[in-house]
Amino acid sequence: MHQAKGASCAKIILIGEHAVVYGQPAIALPIKSIKLTATVTPTAGPQVIHSTFYSGRLAAAQPPFTGLTKLIKQLLTFFSAAQQGFDLMIDSALPAERGMGSSAACAIAIIRAFYGAFDTPLDRPTLLNWAAVSEKAIHGNPSGLDAATTSAERPQWFIRGEAPKPIHFPTRGFLVIADTGEIGQTGAAVGHVADLLRRDHTKFQPVIEHIGSASRKAAVALAQDDLKALGTQLTVAQTALAQMGVSAASLDRLIEAAIQAGALGAKLTGSGQGGCMIALAADHATAHAVVQALTVAGAAATWTYDFAESEAL
Ligand code: PMV
Repeated sequence: MHQAKGASCAKIILIGEHAVVYGQPAIALPIKSIKLTATVTPTAGPQVIHSTFYSGRLAAAQPPFTGLTKLIKQLLTFFSAAQQGFDLMIDSALPAERGMGSSAACAIAIIRAFYGAFDTPLDRPTLLNWAAVSEKAIHGNPSGLDAATTSAERPQWFIRGEAPKPIHFPTRGFLVIADTGEIGQTGAAVGHVADLLRRDHTKFQPVIEHIGSASRKAAVALAQDDLKALGTQLTVAQTALAQMGVSAASLDRLIEAAIQAGALGAKLTGSGQGGCMIALAADHATAHAVVQALTVAGAAATWTYDFAESEAL
C-alpha cells in the first residue's frame, strides 16, 4: 500500500428524485467545481479519519459515518489488509446533508483512493457496486443515482439497475442552486415516500409516474435546447414532489422568489424536506437577478452552474 488520492464532486438532481427509487428515469449533473478528495496514507499506527464531519479512529465512528466505516472495512478486507494502519484525510467543499450527494461523493473518493493505494484498476460498475455498500447503510433503499453522478464527468440519464448514460445539455442556460440552510434528511424523506405508497398506492403511484413523465419530457427539451420547456417540467416535478410532502416552507419560499425574479422553472433538488433548491435561468442577467432574489429570500448560500460547464472536461 502507498499514499494515494481519490476525487469526486457534488451532484445536483435536475429532475426525477424520489421517483427514481421506483424505477422512473432521472437526470442529474456533476458539479465539478465543488470538489471532494480523499487521501489515504499508510502508517504503522491506528486507522484514523480526518474530516469536517468526523475525525478520529475508524473503529469509533458514529452514524452517519458508520456507512463509510463499513465500506472502508470491506475494502481493506478485499485488499487483504484488514489490520493496515492509515490516515484518511477527506477534504470537502460540499455542504453535508443538503441534497448535494456528500455521502456518495465521500464513498466514491474513498474507493478511488484505496484502489489507487493498492495499484488496482477500477472500472465503473465495480466503483458503483462498492458505493452501494455505504449508501445502503446510510439510507436503506438508494437508487444509485448519487454515486453514479458524483463519479461522472458529464450529466447523466439514470434508470435504477441500468448503466447510467451521458445526456446532452444545451450550452446556453444557467442553474442557480440555493441552500435553505436546513438539513435535508434523505433517509427520512425516502421513508416518508415509501409510507405514502404503502398506505395509498392508488393515489401516489400516479404521482411517481407523473414525475417520470416530466423527466422524459425534460430529456426531450434538453435534446431540443428548449429551456422554456425544460423550466416547465421542473415546475411540474416540484408540484408532484410537494404533493408527496417532501417540499418545505423554506424551499417553497425560495422557489417562489426565483420564479418572481424570472426563472423559467424551479424545484427542490435531492431528497427535500430542507436542503437545496434549483432554478433555471435563460441567461446570465436573469441568473444574477435570481441569485439576488434568493439571497433576499433567505438562502444560506448560492452557486451558479453555467450549462457550458456540462461539456467541459
Ligand atoms: O438527498 P440526496 O442528495 O441524497 O438525494 C436523494 C435522491 C433520492 O431520489 C431522494 C433517493 C435516491 O436514492 O435516489
